[in-house]
Amino acid sequence: MNSAAPELPVDALDMLRKRRSAKWQTYPTDVLPLTVAEMDFALAAPVADALREAVERSDTGYAMATPGLGRALADFAASRWNWDLDPASVTAVIDVGVGVVELLRLLARPGDGVVISPPVYPPFFDWVAEAGARLVEVPLAHDDAGWRLDLAALETAFAGRPAAYVLCNPHNPVGLVHTAGELAALVRLAQDHGVTIVSDEIHGPLVLPGATFTPLLTVPGAAEVAVSVLSASKAWNLAGLKCAAVVTAAPRMAALPGRFPADTRWRVGHFGVIAAVAAFADGEPWLDQLLVTLGRRRARLADLLRQRLPMLTWDPPEATFLAWLNCTALGPGDEARYLFLERGRVALEPGLRFGAVGSGYARLNFATSNDILDQAIARMATAVT
Ligand SMILES: Cc1ncc(COP(=O)(O)O)c(C=O)c1O
Repeated sequence: MNSAAPELPVDALDMLRKRRSAKWQTYPTDVLPLTVAEMDFALAAPVADALREAVERSDTGYAMATPGLGRALADFAASRWNWDLDPASVTAVIDVGVGVVELLRLLARPGDGVVISPPVYPPFFDWVAEAGARLVEVPLAHDDAGWRLDLAALETAFAGRPAAYVLCNPHNPVGLVHTAGELAALVRLAQDHGVTIVSDEIHGPLVLPGATFTPLLTVPGAAEVAVSVLSASKAWNLAGLKCAAVVTAAPRMAALPGRFPADTRWRVGHFGVIAAVAAFADGEPWLDQLLVTLGRRRARLADLLRQRLPMLTWDPPEATFLAWLNCTALGPGDEARYLFLERGRVALEPGLRFGAVGSGYARLNFATSNDILDQAIARMATAVT
């Protein structure tokens, strides 16, 4: 990765406010939204070109994901992560959420346990319920070294024979990149207790300078007990276009997507497939620039927090563009988030949405310009002084 690469540009605020997406339409215009995981950078040129060309062809019918999506993802995974995946093992789904829910429907009988590790991306809670399973929470551990999987507590939970564990790899909202060693230990626990791991790897391409992503299916033994769900949608900001990929690496697991409802393939977004193929095939230089930009934004945020909001603490994320801020010095529950919004006119995601262990926390999205980040922190600091 070229650390001298120029930063990615961000439009001025008045242009961003013209976007029709959720991030820019949820709050009144005097609020700076640092909320939902959308990025403010301009689209990668190969992706924008592919979409433009599709519009020019009036190419707006149903998606045809095979064989293009599997091939593009396999080439990307090989060059990026040294992961040799079979393009034929890739099944397109409309989004990661649907991929995980359809997998859980097949893995868990009604009432079976499904384990998740809060604080975690809020829909994980809903996906388990949607699949008719019973939620089992094994929070992440936290100490001076930061966040990590609580392998001892997971072992205890796995001994209760849950049907599945939904891994967040890397982990939103804390930006944790699980190490190959931890993932190997997790795989051993899954093997010992007959638990299937569904690995949500949507943030895999978003590992920042200094850390290394390990796709779960590259871990020895994982193929027999794990399924991964990936997407280009976080790293290239394509969430509204609707395309994700379920990936397997052994026959027992490959049978799962083979049993998805027949209509699943017709629900995939055509523009999602076009954009994902362009991103995986031609979007790596842009991704490198993105990661350099986000690495610098993370450093800037660290400086700003130290100078302006020293009562907040955090472990700078190793991946994602999300900062999980410990605001307990400002009050329990979502009090700090309320102060930042009502007095500072800055919207963050409320910590309690990520589980009860999110009390006193808020999540800040730093995939924006220096200018917006500076303004947001200045307003937050004023709000609490
Ligand atoms: C961990 C994680 N999984 C899934 C999603 C959403 O993916 P999709 O829109 O493809 O369901 C997000 C969005 O931020 C996420 O952070």
